[in-house]
Order: sequence, then structure tokens, then C-alpha cells
Amino acid sequence: MSVRRLAPDHVQPASFAFDAANENWADQQIAKYPQGRQASAVIPLLWKAQEQHHGWVPRAAIEAVAKKLDMAPMRVMEIATFYTMFNLQPVGEHYVQLCGTTPCALRGAEALKKVCEEVIGPQSTVSADGKLSWLEVECLGACCNAPMAQINFDYYEDLTPENFRALLDDLRHGRPVKPGPQNDRSCSEPLGGGETLRDAALYDGTVIGAGDWQARIADQRKAAAEAAAAKAAAEAAAKAAEATPAAVETKPATETAAAGRPKPSEPKQPSGAAHDTPAANGKVSAAAVKESARPADAKPTTAAPFAGKPEAAAKAATDPALAESKPELLTVARDNKPDDLSLIWGVGPKLATMLNGMGVWHFDQIANWKADELAWVDARLTGFKGRATRDDWISQAKKLSTGWRPDSALGDKPVK
Ligand code: FES
Repeated sequence: MSVRRLAPDHVQPASFAFDAANENWADQQIAKYPQGRQASAVIPLLWKAQEQHHGWVPRAAIEAVAKKLDMAPMRVMEIATFYTMFNLQPVGEHYVQLCGTTPCALRGAEALKKVCEEVIGPQSTVSADGKLSWLEVECLGACCNAPMAQINFDYYEDLTPENFRALLDDLRHGRPVKPGPQNDRSCSEPLGGGETLRDAALYDGTVIGAGDWQARIADQRKAAAEAAAAKAAAEAAAKAAEATPAAVETKPATETAAAGRPKPSEPKQPSGAAHDTPAANGKVSAAAVKESARPADAKPTTAAPFAGKPEAAAKAATDPALAESKPELLTVARDNKPDDLSLIWGVGPKLATMLNGMGVWHFDQIANWKADELAWVDARLTGFKGRATRDDWISQAKKLSTGWRPDSALGDKPVK
């Protein structure tokens, strides 16, 4: 470490002022800080003053910076004397900071010091021609290229007494020099070049490209998406299978208990349509028996539309002789983006899961059901048979498939 004192009076200039360009630059730096915090610009201004004054900071510059920043000169002096980046003594045109810390010392920094003394002279003095000065400093963070020196703004590494002496000579005489390692290595590679990752194939894309990797990754992604979709469908089907009639009967209000949704036992329910399980009240069972007693040729061969005819729907749901036709079903939702079927009035989470388990995922599927397909579905709404007809799912789904959405998450109650 060097002693941090101002240069003697006989080398101090009488005054200092930023030139016009630097004055403008200083104003811009000050403007970066909030009002009343101009002192924060002290380091940049000192740095610019040093740059303008041939690489060192005289007392007059310290005072000028203090005045510009409205600081006490002592406060600026404290900064200038604390940070070794500020030179308080005159320096040569090429200012050599030679690292003398352990790694550089172990790699020959002592020999380099001798070169400095021989070529330049004592530490902290400027050579007679004004070209060179030097100072021993602490680690400059380039230990892997030790020993090294910083000369003005550049690092010169892997120095030996020979190449360092030649370097100083080139600088003194204005010849071009090469910053960085002064031997044949690149950056911090081992001497003689890198020892690892030398296979050229690592860099031409052939390794990563082996076996058409893009197609392989695409196939892997596709397989993963299909597996995920199949798993989701299997889980939905399993949940639907768990919803047995007995289980539903013990909790008949589960699907209809949501706020604002009419309960089966409420008197406002449309006649013949309010009960989750038509067989539960006995009425439909009797009707079914009656219906089944009709001659075969008297039975409908094609299903009549049941919308608005809950009793007929109930028959369709329970009478195997009535025409049913399996609608188009999907194994998984298209693009894995199922519609929110619970937006259909009367469809809650349980029914939505049941529909998904059947293969119904989208509004447009329901919207396109024919009467016989509606009957097929209605007959399979375990615990809720007849619900699809009673709540006119087809009309609701037609509206929903256009993009229309109800105000309530429960759906829009169909007008009977
Ligand atoms: S010890 Fe010299 S650069 Fe770190």
C-alpha cells in the first residue's frame, strides 16, 4: 500500500476548472441524482477531473469538485484519499500498476518490480521523459494470468521480466502493444491451448442433431400429451362409475343444492321434472310399465322431440323400447379444452363429470343432439334421468356454443 497524501505544493497547479465538454458532462452526472443529493456525483466528477489533469488529482481539482457539488472540501478530500483509483501524485503518460499480491508474487512479480525500478525508477516517481511511472498495488483480480500489471486502462498478463521489459519499451516509444496475455494463450486457457472439449463435432451441431432430434422431441411431446389426455379421460370415467344410483339417492340434493338453484322438493319445480331419479317417486315406474305394454308396432320407431315434454322424456329414459341413438362421443376434449358444461342450467360438477365420462365435452356436441340421442343420454344420467330434457339442455347448449355466456355461473334457467 502506498501512503495517500496530496502531492507536494511545488507540483500542485494554481487552479483547476473543467473544460467546457467536461463541465457539460459533470452537469449531466449531477442531474442523475435527486435534488439535494448532488454529492452522490463526487466520484464520477473526481474521476473526470483526474482524466482531464493527466491522470492525477491535484488539490485545486478537489476544491473545484467540492464547490460544484456544494460540499465541504474535506469531504471530497476524504473520498480522494480513500480510493486508490485516484492518484494524488503526478503519474507518467503510461501509469503502471503492478500487482504484488500472493499469486502474482508466487509467479514472479518480484522480478517485475526490479524491471520497473531499472526501466522507470523508484515507485511513485515519473521517469525523466514523463512517459512512465509505476506503483505496486494489491490484487487486480486477474490472478489466473499472474503475474500481471494494469497500465492505464488495460491489463497485461502472463508477464515475464523479458516480455515486460519489451512492453515498457514499446510503450515508451509509442509502438503498438497487445493487451491481455503476453504469451500464446487465449484469455485464461491452459498454456498451449485448451485440454478439454476439443472435439470439433461438439460445435457443428452433429452431436445434438444425431437421430433427428427435433422429430424425436416432437414425438415425445405428442406421446406425453396423449398419455395425459387418456389419464384424464380414465379418471373422469372412474368418477362417473362411482356415482351409483344408490349413492345419489342418499344425497339427492347434492347436484341441486347450489345457491339459487331450485331443489327437487320445492313446490315451484315443474311437474314431473324435478326429481333426480324418476323411479324414486314411483310415478315413472308405473308409466314405464304401462308404456311397455303397448304393441310393438304402436311404439315410436323414431323418437319424437321431448323438449318441453318431461313425461315423455322420462319414458324415453326408462323405456328401452323407445328409440335411442348413441350420439357422437369423444374420447377426450378437442385440443384438451373442454367446455364448462356447468354453465348449462341444471348441470353441476357431478353431472359435468358424468357427461365427460360418457364422452360429452363440448356445447356443440349437445347442441347437435337429435331427440333419440337426447333420449340415449337422458337414460344414462344415473341418478338424474330425464334432466337433459327437463332443463332443455339442447337449447341451452345452442346458445352457449355461439359464445354467449350467462350472467350466473349456474347457467341461465330455461323459460318453460
Ligand atoms: S494476485 Fe495479482 S491479480 Fe490477483
